[in-house]
Amino acid sequence: MLNIICVCGARPNFMKIAPIVGALDRVPDVRTRLIHTGQHYDDRMSRLFFGDLGIPQPDLNLGVGSGSQAVQTAEVMTRFEPVCLQHAPDWVVVVGDVNSTLACALTASKLGIRLAHVEAGLRSFDRTMPEEVNRVLTDAISDRLFVTEPSGVENLLREGIAEEKIHFVGNVMIDTLMSTRARADLSDVLSILSVRKKSYALVTLHRPSNVDSKKAFSSIVDALETISRDMPVIFPVHPRSKKNLNVMGLGARIERMPQFCLIEPLGYLDFLKLMADAAVVLTDSGGIQEETTILGVPCLTLRKNTERPITITHGTNRLTGSSTEAILSAYRDVRSHPPCVSAAPDLWDGRAAERIVACLTGTEPVASQQQQGSSIMLSLADPSGIDGRIEPGPERACQSRQKHQPV
Ligand code: UD1
Repeated sequence: MLNIICVCGARPNFMKIAPIVGALDRVPDVRTRLIHTGQHYDDRMSRLFFGDLGIPQPDLNLGVGSGSQAVQTAEVMTRFEPVCLQHAPDWVVVVGDVNSTLACALTASKLGIRLAHVEAGLRSFDRTMPEEVNRVLTDAISDRLFVTEPSGVENLLREGIAEEKIHFVGNVMIDTLMSTRARADLSDVLSILSVRKKSYALVTLHRPSNVDSKKAFSSIVDALETISRDMPVIFPVHPRSKKNLNVMGLGARIERMPQFCLIEPLGYLDFLKLMADAAVVLTDSGGIQEETTILGVPCLTLRKNTERPITITHGTNRLTGSSTEAILSAYRDVRSHPPCVSAAPDLWDGRAAERIVACLTGTEPVASQQQQGSSIMLSLADPSGIDGRIEPGPERACQSRQKHQPV
């Protein structure tokens, strides 16, 4: 019996861990435990996602909550260590780049437990981002590194990671998007918000560099105010950004803008629907750059760099930074010249979790029922045909697997 602990902690982890837990459940003789660190604890940042994504209740919630970088990381380590000692897993699987990822990676590695990192190799080359530090350190101590895009393979090889540890498997976040797209399409969030398809801008912001600095946040709000004169702006606001909007006195200003809609964070399905039907998305999130790539929705990333360059070369993403002029210039540009939708990145085909689980358990990839029927569900869900691009031919998947470390 193979004993595996899967870790999740913060909102962007949930959509990554969901297909992995699902794929592990389909393999016999594997005992999977799901541990939630409790880094995110609000219902809207956590519980809602378990319902939307059908993730089983965690076996344990470590309840760490908020804290400084050091406190949060240390608290997760302290609480995760006894869990590892009690269950003595064969593998600990961590996803993404949040503090819980690094904390559990360090704990497992120091106990001599084999560590798998999903979404390895991404680099923004900006060490002022806590996520970049988490990525570099987690990768350095991982035994299996599962990579979403070719730049990740290059980065890891350059950092001296042994080639045999690196596996280019595709993107588990896209697995989740593809398997839930049809359900998300049933959401009535557009009518609740009184907006029409392709006639509104969707905004998400939470990076410290944008929302902890009054200068940056004000400059972004200036740009959003101008955009809101052109089309409704929907902004599901992260708790950290909400707090800062109020502290900085920007909240009251936003409330006076007629077409500006500040709302609570949404669940996965409502957010996916809102994103798929947006005219443009403005964000500083990592995952949203990838999701808009697959959805073919123009994405302006309010950052100077991205650790996901494929979203620019293959997707609809462009970097603007946080200056008002740069955001507005990019906005006008995508409105007058909508970006072309090109082929989906290699292996972003809805089957990344199967490949990861096959690699960890030494079995053949097993598709879920939902995945087997996904091409039909997707084409029904989106008559515009955008979804046609997320069904790569078997030859393409095969070629790239040969090129980049097959599992
Ligand atoms: C974390 C991740 C970031 C990820 C983001 C998604 C790190 C370093 N950062 O950032 O990579 O993109 O999650 O949201 O791990 N808060 C609540 N309720 C919650 C969670 C947080 O009110 O459920 C508030 C607290 O005031 C907290 C603040 O948000 O101090 C920041 O939360 P934290 O988990 O430290 O970082 P995020 O900004 O959410």
